[in-house]
Amino acid sequence: MSATDHLVIFDTTLRDGEQSPGATMNKAEKLRIAKVLEKLRVDVIEAGFAIASQGDFEAVKSIAENIRESTVCSLARALDKDIDRAAEAIRPAERGRIHTFIATSPIHMKYKLQMEPEAVIEQAVRAVKRARGHVDDVEFSCEDAGRSELDFLCRIIEAAIAAGARTINIPDTVGYAIPEQFGDTIRQIMTRVPNADQAIFSVHCHNDLGLAVANSLAAVVQGARQVECTINGLGERAGNASLEEIVMAVRTRQDLFHLDTRIDTRHIVPASRLVSTITGFPVQPNKAIVGANAFAHESGIHQDGVLKHRETYEIMRAEDVGWHTNSLVLGKHSGRNAFRTRLLELGIQFETETELNEAFARFKALADLKHEIFDEDLQAIASDTRQKEEAGRYGLVCMRVCSETGVVPRSSITMTVDGKEHTVEAEGSGPVDATFKAIESLVDSGCTLQLYSVNAITSGTDAQGEVTVRLERGGRIVNGVGADTDIIIASAKAYIEALNLISREGIRQHPQIADV
Ligand code: KIV
Ligand code: ZN
Repeated sequence: MSATDHLVIFDTTLRDGEQSPGATMNKAEKLRIAKVLEKLRVDVIEAGFAIASQGDFEAVKSIAENIRESTVCSLARALDKDIDRAAEAIRPAERGRIHTFIATSPIHMKYKLQMEPEAVIEQAVRAVKRARGHVDDVEFSCEDAGRSELDFLCRIIEAAIAAGARTINIPDTVGYAIPEQFGDTIRQIMTRVPNADQAIFSVHCHNDLGLAVANSLAAVVQGARQVECTINGLGERAGNASLEEIVMAVRTRQDLFHLDTRIDTRHIVPASRLVSTITGFPVQPNKAIVGANAFAHESGIHQDGVLKHRETYEIMRAEDVGWHTNSLVLGKHSGRNAFRTRLLELGIQFETETELNEAFARFKALADLKHEIFDEDLQAIASDTRQKEEAGRYGLVCMRVCSETGVVPRSSITMTVDGKEHTVEAEGSGPVDATFKAIESLVDSGCTLQLYSVNAITSGTDAQGEVTVRLERGGRIVNGVGADTDIIIASAKAYIEALNLISREGIRQHPQIADV
């Protein structure tokens, strides 16, 4: 594949994806996702925003230490301290990139940065040069390019390339662009900037108008050769362009795009499931490529057509994107070694033997309830074990729920608060409501429940239910996830995890809040 027919896939699930309200991930979870991204063969993994917090720095560093096949990148505002911190975090990487950015739209420069345009150019040049002092691979982004003036964009881009940026990213930060117009902007920039041939042009589109993928593809048609995207389209507000949709559009319509990616598409569905399990953001059933219905045919006419000749109604093969790789992996009689080996294949590695033993005990307990254990079950066991090992303020000891026709549901729950056991009871409109009320009667968290959702992890009535609980307090949002074959217990676990997250999380800097 030559440079001109290769589309660079830059995954920002771990950075922009993590900016989705409630989608925070810890270091171990980020590393698990990074390993799956490496298996997917993404070119660049944006591992985080190193200066945001100590936790973010450690996560980027650990990804840089462990990932060998993809370039590992950290975001940095156009500030010396950000760039130096990013450089320190990616230092262990085989291939490292610093991605620095500054806002270029009149509205951002005037109100957010409170800087004159000339000063913005100067700062961009200084940032790119400083980043080049650390690494060769430097990307520069013009934040809010979608609402920036074309002449100004051309000037700052020319200066950034001259200062050493190898990739120029044009973000539609607020999801304002329309495909034809955005494609035209890319074309004009690439023709007007005199040194444009010395950089790869990239796009980073947000989905506020549901056009992130369409805008990205319009830019690719006009010559962009890097797309920034996320698994399941996760990201700030309405999200980013979804990786699976970009990759499959380019692959399915090679007749139009005449280029390809390095992506091993068979890992798309497992990657989507992992990101959904870890973040607690369910995938809508009708989501393209990775939704449960993406390859399911309901109508008789469609089913008949597909049975006669698959291509009558299918433009992609389900197995090519990783559906049906849902193999039966382990059962009741599987031993510890088989369990550990399969976890390693899934990129799950526990830090201690105690954690592995704990996970194995959970696996055995689950295998007693449910004969067929799938990869998704193992992912849920790993997440559950990690939650327990992180020992927050609150823990579930046991619970009993009474649900009977004509009787008000009642839940009795024993839980620990700072290591001390308490038993509480409450009634509610249903067993889940009663359980949450019982927990709240003890902890009085002051949180608002923003979302409650239940998903079956695998098929069958014996499947584990995966519950997501989103809580908000004082503007902070967290997602707790719990899995169990009993969905009321899964709900209690999810609620308790959310309480632990909200009581633990420290203050992180947001990359797009000015600090200049
Ligand atoms: O949306 C955006 O502009 C960003 C930049 C930091 C690239 O996320
Ligand atoms: Zn963004």
